[in-house]
Amino acid sequence: DLRVARAMSMHFYQLSTKLLGDTVSKMNENLTSVVLVASFFTLTVGYVSKRLLKESSHRDKKYPPYIPSSIPFLGHAVAFGKSPIEFLENAYEKYGPVFSFTMVGKTFTYLLGSDAATLMFNSKNEDLNAEDVYSKLTTPVFGKGVAYDVPNPLFLEQKKMLKTGLNIARFKEHVKIIEAETIEYFQRWGDSGERNLFEALSELIILTASSCLHGKEIRGMLNERVAQLYADLDGGFSHAAWLLPAWLPLPSFRKRDRAHREIKNIFFKVIEKRRRSGDKADDILQTLIDATYKDGRPLNDNEIAGMLIGLLLAGQHTSSTTSAWMGFFLARDKDLQERCYAEQKAVCGEDLPPLDFDQLKDLSLLERCLKETLRLRPPIMTMMRMARTPQTAAGYDIPVGHQVCVSPTVNHRLQDTWVERMDFSPSRYLNDNPAAGEKFAYIPFGAGRHRCIGENFAYVQIKTVWSTLLRLYEFDLVDGYFPTINYTTMIHTPHNPVIRYRRRQ
Ligand code: HEM
Repeated sequence: DLRVARAMSMHFYQLSTKLLGDTVSKMNENLTSVVLVASFFTLTVGYVSKRLLKESSHRDKKYPPYIPSSIPFLGHAVAFGKSPIEFLENAYEKYGPVFSFTMVGKTFTYLLGSDAATLMFNSKNEDLNAEDVYSKLTTPVFGKGVAYDVPNPLFLEQKKMLKTGLNIARFKEHVKIIEAETIEYFQRWGDSGERNLFEALSELIILTASSCLHGKEIRGMLNERVAQLYADLDGGFSHAAWLLPAWLPLPSFRKRDRAHREIKNIFFKVIEKRRRSGDKADDILQTLIDATYKDGRPLNDNEIAGMLIGLLLAGQHTSSTTSAWMGFFLARDKDLQERCYAEQKAVCGEDLPPLDFDQLKDLSLLERCLKETLRLRPPIMTMMRMARTPQTAAGYDIPVGHQVCVSPTVNHRLQDTWVERMDFSPSRYLNDNPAAGEKFAYIPFGAGRHRCIGENFAYVQIKTVWSTLLRLYEFDLVDGYFPTINYTTMIHTPHNPVIRYRRRQ
């Protein structure tokens, strides 16, 4: 398991999410590069003429303030890529809550703050569309027939099926499974040391997510080869896949496609076996096998397999980065960490018996720590939609073709909304805080029709993992180092995430 997971997490964060700069710098290396450079050139010319045309024909409209750039086509890609939050906060100061800028030939319009964000969360999918921006990335990974490959009403039905599968009876089982996986996994850490916490939690969460979301058959098959397939598939979530034409014969694209086919085949066999055996296990796989659309049609095997892939990947990076950041916030504040440990005893009993779902709910300090981690380090830093129809926000006209964005990270720390905004302060949720009056000031799981269905599971998972870890160890920063943020990954991960730990007596 150790080797499996290690190989996997290395690939997760090295193969995937390469910055544009990275992509561009490799352009001279092979024949593909020639194609890339040519398409870059064509796109630039096309882009410049399109902008000129647009500007001359829409003089009467009041467009959002546009942040100028002297670099054609690429625009602000480099500055944004280096430090997106700083870029957005500076723009907010200078231009207000709604502004536009160009990156890689695309115009992005950000809606910052709760009021401006309302446009995105109240909009219909036909107007501000998710498939147009996400499908290119997700469809090769999840496959056809699910998520952003299907009309949104159908995806909404699929989300509902998944939500049915994520119920309290299941969570009660999940707590036991996750506690057992965590104890077993961390045996390899021994009594004390310094280790990469993020790598460990990434490995652990593949195991727990696989057990809880896929079921025992698929978890039982999670060996080195399957782990590598997940890693190759995950490599599909890269800036390259988002920016470059899908037909390019890049090795990472080919790996992704092969992994997709092989994983699907593994899942098909499991589904087929489950269907044949008549064994009605109480798990999500069974929920999906038994589910039907409103018109009575059951899910076919391809849809089920696609949803299983989606479940794993949607829950993997989001939960593992959040858990890792939470560990560093607790390690930085020893007093808070001790209070969380004391809460374990106060709520569950002095002798710390095995965790149980009902007690987990009462761990309110731990819960506020998680909530605060998601405020300062929300894993999804930007939600995006394509404007298919003209929109207005804050008195500005947003034309068709703009990529409209909302950033949880920025909303979660706006000066106007949050008191002591950069402090990790779980107690802020006990007091009357100004953000409570603003509907979209706190949106780590999004809102509206695209809202996350995994919130409750994520809370159960992360609270179980951290309850277990707090009982096992005391944590410290290594020589006071609190990880800086790695912005080159699509989900903002901690840099050099090594933590010091000592077994509790
Ligand atoms: C800490 C954990 C998680 C965070 C912070 C998170 C965050 C988000 C956010 C921000 C969205 C909205 C995306 C958008 O509007 O463009 C979303 C959607 C979604 N998430 Fe999560 N998520 C988490 C865990 C999970 C888990 C565990 C699952 C599955 C079990 C999951 C499944 C989904 C699904 C199906 C959607 C719907 C996408 C749509 O309708 O367009 N998420 N999540």
